[in-house]
Amino acid sequence: MSDHNEPILEARNLTKHFNVGGFLSGKVVRAVQDANIKLYRGRVTALVGESGSGKSTIIRMLARLYDPTSGEILFKGKNVLQDNGRKAMLDYRSRVQMIFQDPFSSLNPVHRVRYHLERPLYIHGKAKTKAIANEQVDALLRRVSLTPTEEFAPKFPHQLSGGQRQRVAIARALAVEPEVMLADEPVSMLDVSIRMGVLNLMAVLRDEQDIAFLYVTHDIASARYFADETLVMYAGHIVEGAGSEELVKEPKHPYTQLLLSAVPDPARGLLTQDFQVKGEIPNLTELGQGCPFAARCPHVMEKCRQTMPRPTKLSETRWTKCYLYGG
Ligand SMILES: Nc1ncnc2c1ncn2[C@@H]1O[C@H](COP(=O)(O)OP(=O)(O)O)[C@@H](O)[C@H]1O
Ligand code: SF4
Ligand SMILES: [Mg+2]
Repeated sequence: MSDHNEPILEARNLTKHFNVGGFLSGKVVRAVQDANIKLYRGRVTALVGESGSGKSTIIRMLARLYDPTSGEILFKGKNVLQDNGRKAMLDYRSRVQMIFQDPFSSLNPVHRVRYHLERPLYIHGKAKTKAIANEQVDALLRRVSLTPTEEFAPKFPHQLSGGQRQRVAIARALAVEPEVMLADEPVSMLDVSIRMGVLNLMAVLRDEQDIAFLYVTHDIASARYFADETLVMYAGHIVEGAGSEELVKEPKHPYTQLLLSAVPDPARGLLTQDFQVKGEIPNLTELGQGCPFAARCPHVMEKCRQTMPRPTKLSETRWTKCYLYGG
């Protein structure tokens, strides 16, 4: 078994700026700024933040769907951004798979479940004959608990519930035997009652197949339940990282504190509600160089408005970017 102490996928100072309103307008959305993330085998890292904070942009850069403006992505220590060739991309996608938020649009309505699962098997050379593909489709459906498999394989997406569709999407991602899964709010569009089942399925995959997960969510309670480590994102910046339990018990960054105050009891409130923090995320085209939370922070100081604080290490497992702790 390979090393669990070395990150399998790492983002270093990953940054994405979008030019909006035409190139000459000079308007730039600073969607992600200096994101540092390390993913490890058999571990779930949650990325938590409100809508518009830059979570999907990070995950899309890690999936190599967007090119970063700057920064590095390392897979097993090797910078993958240097090679955009077809073979390198195919190889990367067989190791790093993405699960999208919307199971209703991620499956092609004209194709049956069987087709969705066979396609990656053929493209990535996991099945050479129809008989082998059939066997593997059967095994994949069993792994995501869509049984009896002969009942689900011939179905079209519209014949499935949201939860069943998301299980097909997970099975499709598993078809290529990935080492990393990037899940972008995988349960937020599902009924509250079935969210737990899908999260539990991902937890089984983490434990049994040693997959590294990045779990993106706006629900800090589900992050506590499912993730070993949680990163908190605000307006393009990851502002705090800690073990999920310690983060919820003792949030350090003023934004994390605000986020948690919106959840009455994160343990009991688990997945039963979607919450919204009071106040707006700042306009990302108008953000200055300072701390993005300065306009809402009860502890704001003059220097907070001038320059973004650097990360301060608080312990072996925690850090934050805030002048209250260093920076
Ligand atoms: N392709 C794009 N072009 C321009 N702006 C974008 C694009 N994708 C995302 N953004 C902007 O980047 C910011 C972060 O978006 P996103 O990563 O989708 O956040 P989240 O997933 O946390 O809701 C938002 O202001 C969004 O409008
Ligand atoms: S850096 Fe300043 S404004 Fe930002 S969270 Fe810390 S105290 Fe508040
Ligand atoms: Mg998103």
